[in-house]
Amino acid sequence: MNTLLKLKKVNLKYQTGKKNISVLKDINLITKKKESISIVGESGSGKTSLIMLIGGLERATSGKIFFQNQEITKLSEDSISEIRKKNIGIIFQSFYLIPNYTAVENVALTLELNKFKNPEKEAKMLLERFGLKHRFNNLPGQLSGGEQQRVAIARAIAMKPELILADEPTGNLDTENSIMISEILFKYIKEEGSSLIMVTHDQKLANKAKRKIKIKDGKIK
Ligand SMILES: Nc1ncnc2c1ncn2[C@@H]1O[C@H](COP(=O)(O)OP(=O)(O)O)[C@@H](O)[C@H]1O
Ligand SMILES: [Mg+2]
Repeated sequence: MNTLLKLKKVNLKYQTGKKNISVLKDINLITKKKESISIVGESGSGKTSLIMLIGGLERATSGKIFFQNQEITKLSEDSISEIRKKNIGIIFQSFYLIPNYTAVENVALTLELNKFKNPEKEAKMLLERFGLKHRFNNLPGQLSGGEQQRVAIARAIAMKPELILADEPTGNLDTENSIMISEILFKYIKEEGSSLIMVTHDQKLANKAKRKIKIKDGKIK
């Protein structure tokens, strides 16, 4: 009952022109609720693709994926997107903030779209928790990389998702900011009891997770 995610013989192939490349090969994986997992592996090994599959942003070519015992591989795009919105927060290497929205507005938008009460108040509470009280009304362009990533994390977790997916969340940051972001992330999942699956090249960050998964040539080692 403690299972959060289950992947059964999952394959992902990309078609480019006439070529069919096999990116993920027979992936089997079971993760538990509240578990923190890091995914490591060389560039091009399929880490981002795996995150995309788990987040329902990409469809498996074959195999089954279950999220909270529901088989998402047989759902429509709309249903998958509903599940994702409520249960999965995704953090990318690039921050993808809306440039003409302030920090508060960037976070509040997600809450607004999901019909939360007091989106602005909620957004401010989250940003304050991440040490950004003095940045509420700044636009992304007026923020440092580390600050932008903190806003992006606040946005990703605003819905209190059961699962947080992060694809090289510190990939664009200097050491100091990387440390701050990793502390924020791990403190948050501990406090909220969320699960984290994170791709990273940073060994220190990877070692903070309870479990480390290595991918090589599209296979879990
Ligand atoms: N949309 C796509 N179309 C075709 N090939 C892709 C696409 N996305 C990724 N790939 C290929 O899949 C492989 C794995 O990519 P990716 O999952 O991004 O690896 P990683 O995140 O480990 O660097 C790479 O060879 C990459 O070129
Ligand atoms: Mg990648």
